[in-house]
Amino acid sequence: MRYSRIIGTGSYLPETVLTNAELEQRVDTTDQWIRERTGIRERRVAAPDQTTCDLAEMAARRAMEAAGVDPSEIDLLILGTTTPDLVFPSTACLLQTRLGLGECGAFDLNAACSGFIYGLSVADQFIRAGTAEKVLVIGAETLTRMLDWNDRSTCVLFGDGAGAVVLAADEKPGIMSTHIHANGHYSDLLGTSVGVSRGFKAEERGGVRVKMKGNEVFKVAVNTLGRIVDETLAANNLEKHDLDWLIPHQANLRIIKATARKLDMSMDQVIVTVDQHGNTSAASVPLALDEAVRSGRVKRGEKLLLEAFGGGFTWGAALVRY
Ligand code: ACO
Repeated sequence: MRYSRIIGTGSYLPETVLTNAELEQRVDTTDQWIRERTGIRERRVAAPDQTTCDLAEMAARRAMEAAGVDPSEIDLLILGTTTPDLVFPSTACLLQTRLGLGECGAFDLNAACSGFIYGLSVADQFIRAGTAEKVLVIGAETLTRMLDWNDRSTCVLFGDGAGAVVLAADEKPGIMSTHIHANGHYSDLLGTSVGVSRGFKAEERGGVRVKMKGNEVFKVAVNTLGRIVDETLAANNLEKHDLDWLIPHQANLRIIKATARKLDMSMDQVIVTVDQHGNTSAASVPLALDEAVRSGRVKRGEKLLLEAFGGGFTWGAALVRY
């Protein structure tokens, strides 16, 4: 059998830290409210001249270095992002040239916060089918560029960053299974109200802004993540106690805790970065994975459950033997 395996991880966070205390100066909020409702203490913000491509480049270089892979060996690049540098060319194309990947296939994938899990799933299919040997999968975002800094219900939640993995073909898994879903009926609960084809309303000429009915998103997220972890375990004939680590999308500590409870996992088995990163959308899972690998917590051979939920709604999970 042919499988894909993660052979290297990397990530990058911009230098500027934005604390809850600083946000207290901008909007009617408190450090206590943000910590209690979300678990977030601080987040990173890209420098004015830094783009999604810049963050992705750093994460990708670190992942390729960790994998011991030369750029010429990569034969597919998938970049999960909701915040591309330009409408087109894709950020993946801009990045491919910077990294010197030759003329491999390269595309952006927009599945909001599930972008990395979707990318991992697509990459896994390419490798299993024998169409690709080594694939670079990245999640990179500059979400702070599309926040309304006067809207306390959204501006406290998000941050910027990037994470990446190199996947390679192997005889053993590797990625044991991936599961992706979407339901467009919920598109009005989380997203932007303007865009290129629909046009920009007069009051929104300043740019694209994230709009979210947070508490409604919260309820669907908890319920849906509960179902996707069941689906993933069942597909692999595994029990909850077979898992070593939960590496969840980092949107809200309360959502993460609900999923851990559903899996009977102690919080010691859950990788949490939301306190320091905020919600970095497609970057959050690979950022958390890289932190867990580099800190030595996640070890080779352990079973990891990666999951994400985001705008669309989109959601997905991957069961990985690291
Ligand atoms: N500071 C102080 N008060 C606030 C703030 C703030 N920053 N934001 C909202 N409030 C107020 C509200 O106005 C409301 O006041 P009211 O009761 O007087 O009307 C009160 O706090 C409660 O608001 P809720 O929205 O009900 O608060 P909740 O406990 O649901 O927490 C939150 C809000 C953190 C947004 C939560 O609902 C959440 O995490 N939702 C899910 C987010 C998510 O997972 N998104 C998916 C991924 S994102 C992507 O795909 C890009």
